[in-house]
Amino acid sequence: MYLKTLHLRQFRNYQDCLVNFNAPKTILVGDNAQGKSNLLEAVELLATLKSHRSVRDRELVWEEATVGEIRANLERAYGSVELSVTLRSQGRRTVALNQESLRRQLDFLGILNAVQFSSLDLELVRGAPEKRRNWLDSILTQLEPIYAYILQQYNQILRQRNALLKKIRKQEIEGTNELSSQEQIDQLALWDAQLATAGSRVTRRRARMLQRLAPIAQAWHTSISGATEVLDINYAPNVSLEEDDPEGVQKAFLSKIQQRRIPEQHQGTTLVGPHRDEVEFTINQTPARAYGSQGQQRTLVLALKLAELKLIEEVVIKNLLTFTSYSEFKRVFPYDGARKLSRWAQKPWTCLASK
Ligand SMILES: Nc1ncnc2c1ncn2[C@@H]1O[C@H](COP(=O)(O)OP(=O)(O)OP(=O)(O)O)[C@@H](O)[C@H]1O
Ligand SMILES: [Mg+2]
Repeated sequence: MYLKTLHLRQFRNYQDCLVNFNAPKTILVGDNAQGKSNLLEAVELLATLKSHRSVRDRELVWEEATVGEIRANLERAYGSVELSVTLRSQGRRTVALNQESLRRQLDFLGILNAVQFSSLDLELVRGAPEKRRNWLDSILTQLEPIYAYILQQYNQILRQRNALLKKIRKQEIEGTNELSSQEQIDQLALWDAQLATAGSRVTRRRARMLQRLAPIAQAWHTSISGATEVLDINYAPNVSLEEDDPEGVQKAFLSKIQQRRIPEQHQGTTLVGPHRDEVEFTINQTPARAYGSQGQQRTLVLALKLAELKLIEEVVIKNLLTFTSYSEFKRVFPYDGARKLSRWAQKPWTCLASK
């Protein structure tokens, strides 16, 4: 995959700027506040539909406009692809692939792969657990775009469950009885089950991904630190999983919800689930977050980022090689196959054609 052009219109401080990337490597040089980070942010948005700097589209649109656009041409093995994101200061963003508007944003993910490394990434080691969760999520979104949907579902269930817990708590404090105690039990049970189902999907995917990423990061870390340091990466999910088994994880989830029932009702918020996961990095058996020197933390982040790059490369290539027969391809992509295949995997196209 190669990013050929990037066209920014009314995006951040760019009014209309077309950039051609002709060289294998490009270095952006400019004064402070000229828009270097903004340009990289545009690429990040194309890859993940998220910006680590901003959550509101309003901030992304040039301040004197109401609509902004990021458009890019990519060279892929099977030909060119055009991606575009239209951002609105009010209203939903829309995405298009080859000028065809996509109904599901999910279909946009995984086409452009990018790994970002910046000074802000030190936060990955030093910052709050949320930073590490976001990091896991952004890798997973690129590796398996469906993850974006799974995570969104989980967050939606979490919000609704929290709203119910809050309502119950409020009722308790104010002594009203909007919901009878049976209604409370029934409604909570409904959300518990949904939270466990969606939550275990998130947890299992995070665990699987980290299992693959950790040895790569360790190898990089050994090589960068000159083999003087040993890195350990430990996924500490809020609901621990013994095995990668959906039923087992869901059971563990429900039993932890039972255990935490009283504190949850007391605090009026959900205390169980992957929104409270953590990833622990230890260097020579010492937690890097609290005790790592600046140099150690930098080495660690670099190793993590290089591992991320390698993993994305490996998985994308594996995806390319997954479909070795036309029948398998048809099974996975029964309709609209060619378009989807070209999104996911270019090499099998020649592979298939030669069969
Ligand atoms: N929505 C917006 N509309 C107009 N200008 C914006 C918008 N969002 C950000 N900017 C401007 O973009 C500029 C920052 O750009 P950016 O962060 O890309 O700078 P940079 O080139 O990376 O600078 P540095 O070298 O300091 O990191 C700021 O001047 C900021 O005011
Ligand atoms: Mg910058």
